[in-house]
Amino acid sequence: MYYSIQFLWHASLLIHFWGKKLLVDPFISPNPLTKWIIDVWDITCDYILITHAHGDHIADVEFFAEKNGATIISNFEIGNYYEKKWCKVHKMNHGGKYNFDFWIVKYVNAIHTSIFPDGTYWGNPGGFVIYNNEKSLYIAWDTALTYDMKLIPMTCPKLDIAVLPIGDNFTMWYEDACIASDFVECQKILWYHYDTFPPITINAQEVQKYFSEKWKKLFLPEIWEILEI
Ligand code: NI
Ligand code: MN
Repeated sequence: MYYSIQFLWHASLLIHFWGKKLLVDPFISPNPLTKWIIDVWDITCDYILITHAHGDHIADVEFFAEKNGATIISNFEIGNYYEKKWCKVHKMNHGGKYNFDFWIVKYVNAIHTSIFPDGTYWGNPGGFVIYNNEKSLYIAWDTALTYDMKLIPMTCPKLDIAVLPIGDNFTMWYEDACIASDFVECQKILWYHYDTFPPITINAQEVQKYFSEKWKKLFLPEIWEILEI
């Protein structure tokens, strides 16, 4: 079975997992870095995973929910919001997991905030662990470094890859992300949440050097690049 992550920049991923396409936090059409490179009509998905309700994570959710009839997987409050817009939803909450037929999604803690652009509060943000008995991946999403990450290797299968934010300012920066990779016991890391806005600009060479000195394998994909896992 084919397992891969396609990087759609910032916090947007298209994951192939056990024959399904999982689109994570779509923010493509309004993103100045992607809107001339990626045509949203070229993307299809079966599920849309939403970690929290900030604009840089949900901009294209309704477009894909309508175009592909995709089911939204998120927390209870975000699920309620999209259910009122006639989207198909699967609501979860922190610490819970659900078996979607040969692949399991667990909604895990993240330390961040979550509010829709209209100003209403929509539950606590989270990350996801997606796994079956072949592959396991962790999407931390917008979060600080937190001791809760240590629970992941205690409660989920050994990770094949961890997707961690490194941009600083809104999330942890790379030195904290390096500690996070120790907490989740995964030395293979895909970066995200950097360079999209001025406060989260990084020096890629400096980060690469820091991680390689600690014997960690880092992936810094181009927009639209596919990484097999
Ligand atoms: Ni955010
Ligand atoms: Mn964000």
